[in-house]
Amino acid sequence: MAVIAVANAKGGSGKTTAVALLATELARSGVEVVVLDCDPLGLAADWASRCGPQSRITAVTDITPGTLPDHLRRLNRPDRHIIADLSGARDTLMALALGLCDLALVPVQGSALDARGAIQVLELIQCIEANARAHINRAVVLSRVNPLVATRSLRTVRDLLMLRGMAMIETPLVERGAYREMFERPGTLYSLEGRQVPNLDRAQANMQAFARDVMARIECGGRDAHGPFAQLCYQHGIAAEGPCANDDRPARRLFQGG
Ligand SMILES: Nc1ncnc2c1ncn2[C@@H]1O[C@H](COP(=O)(O)OP(=O)(O)O)[C@@H](O)[C@H]1O
Ligand SMILES: [Mg+2]
Repeated sequence: MAVIAVANAKGGSGKTTAVALLATELARSGVEVVVLDCDPLGLAADWASRCGPQSRITAVTDITPGTLPDHLRRLNRPDRHIIADLSGARDTLMALALGLCDLALVPVQGSALDARGAIQVLELIQCIEANARAHINRAVVLSRVNPLVATRSLRTVRDLLMLRGMAMIETPLVERGAYREMFERPGTLYSLEGRQVPNLDRAQANMQAFARDVMARIECGGRDAHGPFAQLCYQHGIAAEGPCANDDRPARRLFQGG
């Protein structure tokens, strides 16, 4: 099980699209996926509800900073992944999700505005790391990338974020009509018919490579083998009992509010 938080303080950067693509691909690999829709707009939950029970994708809404840790404990199961779709608000819920995830995934389009939103998330991550003395595994994914040319602004944004120490998911999310269509019809990208949606096969291949890279990033874990929440819950099998005995685990302080 892994918890992935998808965040960018800028709206429209491709968070919900990345959540839907990742959920689709992880569910196809045979695990259950729960989307924690932390955005009051509820677009990710709407999409998940239209995927149907056979998709193995469900959603939870009305998440608050008070209920997020309980949801994570309750949903903790080896054959399940959790993806949190955050709103653009740089608030307590975002900070908590970033502090408890195994990977903070930050979608960024090739625009200075998106890059600034990503840097705000990065600064929040650094603040949590400094206070909790933890490492948060994080990576940028370039989104809505033109499949034919890398624009100058995209290259600038990529270089700026790498300079700031943001790791990059190798496969960018390409601009594809199919990634918009999937929000307009029931089912996942695998239930759209190729004839109705141009380049569906390329969209699926891009989604597969993206999900593979995201999971590889979680498995290699950045500097740590597991994120703070993994250390707290998954390795020690203490789903509901509360924090483990190791005082140095940062999530213990988060759960205790200290
Ligand atoms: N890779 C992509 N290809 C095509 N359209 C995209 C892509 N990523 C995002 N979009 C479109 O951009 C808009 C904003 O994306 P969205 O995922 O809702 O961003 P956010 O959740 O960050 O606000 C939506 O209309 C979405 O359909
Ligand atoms: Mg969204």
